[in-house]
Amino acid sequence: MPDTSHIKGLILCGGRGTRLRPLTYTRAKQLIPIANKPALFYVVEDLVQAGIRDIGVVISPETGSEVKEALSAGGTNPWNARFSFILQEEPLGLAHAVKTARPYLEDSPFVMYLGDNLLSGGIAPLVEDFLRSDLHALVLLTPVEDPTRFGVAVVDRRGRVTRLVEKPREPPSNLALVGVYVFHPVVHEVIEDLRPSRRGEYEITDAIQGLLDRGCRVRAHTVRGWWKDTGRPEDLLDANRLLLSHQTGRITGEVVDSEVTGEVVIEEKAKVLRSVVRGPVHVAAGAVIEDSYVGPYTSVGRNALIRSSNVEYSIILDESEVSDLPCRLDAALLGQGVVVRGGGNRPFRHSLRLVLGDRSVVSL
Ligand code: TTP
Repeated sequence: MPDTSHIKGLILCGGRGTRLRPLTYTRAKQLIPIANKPALFYVVEDLVQAGIRDIGVVISPETGSEVKEALSAGGTNPWNARFSFILQEEPLGLAHAVKTARPYLEDSPFVMYLGDNLLSGGIAPLVEDFLRSDLHALVLLTPVEDPTRFGVAVVDRRGRVTRLVEKPREPPSNLALVGVYVFHPVVHEVIEDLRPSRRGEYEITDAIQGLLDRGCRVRAHTVRGWWKDTGRPEDLLDANRLLLSHQTGRITGEVVDSEVTGEVVIEEKAKVLRSVVRGPVHVAAGAVIEDSYVGPYTSVGRNALIRSSNVEYSIILDESEVSDLPCRLDAALLGQGVVVRGGGNRPFRHSLRLVLGDRSVVSL
């Protein structure tokens, strides 16, 4: 493996997170747990696994302190990484975030990773290729169905990027840029000259096009496994599905008079009583499931409670309560400390799909 000691990481955790409201009114979207672990932690793991421990984290005034706290994990920092926090006063775009981080990045090459993106297979091959080749940027691409929502690249047969366009009306290819990039410090010179795009942001796509215009060498890798941008509730649920589908079952909690099948994790001090749990399901420490059915692709947060209810394909955050529901809860995303209670004895025929911010209360 090439020497990675001089390469820095840059994780982007600013932004507004408008598409994930109401959850993002009270928390950073990068900290929403997927398979009961914040999205941001997977990003840190990918960087550390690629040999990068010097990591800058771009934060916003609204959620910065929460992100800082999560990464210091009560002072333990299990990744043994060195974090530097960089305040971006306003979310003026990904290239603006790089510009804000310039004093931290100095003249080091760096890996920029969006804090709400998830990738299977890690980034070590990408970093190794960048360090071996004489490149100015290396980007990661994936084929998508609707390229008009993404930055889109045109690549020649040797993997060289020849052109980039941000959210094109007429896409020149179906290859979208995903949220991981490796840059040579020359990118800062291009960013200095950038102008805001039509939507008023300093676009990283324009910065990479600027590198191409200067004759710089930009190459692309294609994502081999899966990639997920967790910007919308349906993306979070799908990311949860993907992560849980790779999980290996492990039961350290208590299971009484219940049927547990498939890959199910039941952490310590969690209890499953008189219930049916069909994996993949992740039940965090201290959670209780009683007289219920919990179906595939569900994550139940710490100290959450599911009682006399039927839940499937959902993310239930810590300390939430779902009880006596008259119908199935399906594709739901419940914030922390949410209460959803049924009570009437007339069953609904349909399932219930809810996205609820922290501490919401719903009675049915
Ligand atoms: P986006 O999802 O593009 O933007 P956003 O977080 O503002 O979300 P929304 O569109 O729902 O309002 O951002 C991708 C990642 O980059 C995310 O982790 C936030 C981060 N980011 C910054 O750090 N600075 C910025 O200026 C922007 C635009 C995003």
